[in-house]
Amino acid sequence: MSYSFILTEIHDRVGLIRFNRPKALNAFNRPLMEELVQALEDFDNNASIGAMVITGSDRAFAAGADIKEMVEASAVDMLLADNLGIWDRIRGIKKPLIAAVSGWCLGGGNEVAMMCDMIIASETAKFGQPEINLGVIPGSGGTQRLAKSVGKAIAMEMVINNRTLSAEEAYRFGLINRVVPVEVYLDEALKLANEIGARAPLAVRSGKEMVNQAFETFLKEGVVDERRAFYFLFSSDDQKEGMRAFIEKRDPEWKGK
Ligand code: CAA
Repeated sequence: MSYSFILTEIHDRVGLIRFNRPKALNAFNRPLMEELVQALEDFDNNASIGAMVITGSDRAFAAGADIKEMVEASAVDMLLADNLGIWDRIRGIKKPLIAAVSGWCLGGGNEVAMMCDMIIASETAKFGQPEINLGVIPGSGGTQRLAKSVGKAIAMEMVINNRTLSAEEAYRFGLINRVVPVEVYLDEALKLANEIGARAPLAVRSGKEMVNQAFETFLKEGVVDERRAFYFLFSSDDQKEGMRAFIEKRDPEWKGK
């Protein structure tokens, strides 16, 4: 199958998906997310594949959801289009998913990385939830998954004060599995995926499901509440101002309404 915004390859028993919107730093528009989910589900249903790796470029795993796609949306537009609903299908993937991250891993990019089962990062990776700069909050599980993986203190700084983590910090705080030189992060992720892909498939599937269950109990409700809050912020002037200011390359002026 040919795609417009991603590239797919097979390496031994591993399905590799590369985001391919370099000019927008792999920002996730709706067609990209539809392609990602389709490719993941195809690999999941392919008996010769044991695990999947998702990656971007050395410069950016992904800079988040596409701001230009949603800047003028109202809260009702957001709710009806429910562009983030499709992201949930990533959590339905049964085979192990590894994110190979280099460069910017921001907003929705970090949320997709956190939906993966493991994260291998290059030394240049930078993790953040900068939605606060746009007058909104993370909308695809960021507040919930961050709090559970790095703990309240760091999650709070990231979500309400745009703290960005270096790869080394992300490793220390438990967000990622390991940090390796930029030249080898993808090879390292493929190697790990091949190793897991060669293990007993039913036990791997069950192990993934159970670890996620421990991690995600109560997550579902949290994610639904978060998404509602994210969509609601599109009824504020500050969301319009924040997103327009980003696109117009200027500082936003917050009004608090
Ligand atoms: N959406 C749309 N376009 C984006 C984008 C995004 N999230 N991030 C970057 N781009 C575009 C830029 O607009 C720019 O396009 P033009 O060349 O047409 O101007 C291009 O990608 C390159 O970006 P920069 O010139 O800004 O590159 P830089 O190296 O100076 O900065 C960056 C890199 C720090 C990642 C900066 O691009 C940035 O801050 N991006 C936005 C990050 C962000 O706010 N993400 C959160 C999005 S909202 C979200 O994800 C909600 C959710 O929870 C689902």
